[in-house]
Amino acid sequence: MDISSNDFARDLIRFIDASPTPFHAVREVKRRLDEAGFHELKESERWALDGKKHYVIRGGSSLIAFVLGSETQPCHSGFKIIGAHTDSPTLKLKPRYRYEQSGCFQFGVEPYGGGIWRTWLDRDLFIAGRVVTQKPDGTISSHLVRLDDMILSIPGQAIHLQRDVNEKGEINSQTDIPPIAALENIENLEQLNKMLLFGPTANRRVTSSSLFLCDTQKGIISGINGEFIRVGRLDDLASCHQALAALIRSEKTPSTCVVSLYDNEEVGSESAQGAGGPFLLNVLERLVETAAGVFRKNDFQRVLSKSFCISADMAHATHPNHMDKHEIRHTIRVGSGPVIKWNADQHYATSDITSAVFYNLCRLSGVKYQVFVSRSDLRCGSTIGPIMATRLGIPVVDVGIPMFAMHSIREQCGVEDHFAMEKVFETFFSRGQEKVIEE
Ligand code: CO
Repeated sequence: MDISSNDFARDLIRFIDASPTPFHAVREVKRRLDEAGFHELKESERWALDGKKHYVIRGGSSLIAFVLGSETQPCHSGFKIIGAHTDSPTLKLKPRYRYEQSGCFQFGVEPYGGGIWRTWLDRDLFIAGRVVTQKPDGTISSHLVRLDDMILSIPGQAIHLQRDVNEKGEINSQTDIPPIAALENIENLEQLNKMLLFGPTANRRVTSSSLFLCDTQKGIISGINGEFIRVGRLDDLASCHQALAALIRSEKTPSTCVVSLYDNEEVGSESAQGAGGPFLLNVLERLVETAAGVFRKNDFQRVLSKSFCISADMAHATHPNHMDKHEIRHTIRVGSGPVIKWNADQHYATSDITSAVFYNLCRLSGVKYQVFVSRSDLRCGSTIGPIMATRLGIPVVDVGIPMFAMHSIREQCGVEDHFAMEKVFETFFSRGQEKVIEE
């Protein structure tokens, strides 16, 4: 890349600050793709591939972008795919979220995904997400909202009332996390809603919403040598940022390159726009059909069989305060490069073959890599890797850059690792089919 690792880290922080929710993340990805000359294709329309660079959005929170390869027979050498996810653990407002208790006006919330909820206490939070409105004529429409200047908080309890908080510190997800929005109930809240969202004369009614609490604190570069990035939602917006940057830089690619950014990974991926749904398969089938002018299942299977996928999600660095939680013979260091994740039970999709391909990409990029496996007596996490492998039937490698404090409201990873992974992704996209010869 023609920019420094520090510049690239600062761009990641801008990307994340613009993406408080998956809807905003997709809007920011779309903005960057539009700027780079990509064309949007709508799922509801007949496709025409004018130019080589396109993208498709589903559900407002998942996006697939691709650059057609330079080969004469469309997609002949297979797809080169990088997958990542747009969602992160967060607190979501309940459908009827407003209530009053003890003179405080509060919002009911429920957890989305496996966050470390105690890290959400005593922070300055705002609300962002999507609201659906209806006009008097019945028209229903959706809008992204971001209420930066309406700050809420979840004050923790005084230590005098919970002397054992430093030993226990459990959080009840029903009673401990509703934020306080104001003192006493606000008159005519419907009116306030309208003014906040659409101005005082808005001629529409908010019918429903997907609204989330978000941290107001902006990302920073930290560490005495400026080696760390600290911001929320690194998992997995850092991988989205790496994949997006690599695709935008891949102007001339021999193979067709695809970046697939999914919502709902943190809750199991089972949704229309999640990795468990048919989104990617639908897009790839239509891509081959549109590029070739005809769809033959046989040809499509042939293309798939030559394809390769990198599932990119953040990895756990070995924490110096918690060495006993890590497999000590597979120490992972922040700053020592991308991590390839292994699990015998296939919670990660990495295989002997796919890891060899990724090691080679690192070697070609001049990037060192690390190998992760969890302690055998600890339950292993998972990613979209095995889901993508199952949906598509193609080889997948699970990788990511190392980080501390995964699923905290504020996470931490390394400046150099983020830069290194983008380099590896660029190398992946710049090459033809990844061949492995059976001897
Ligand atoms: Co993740």
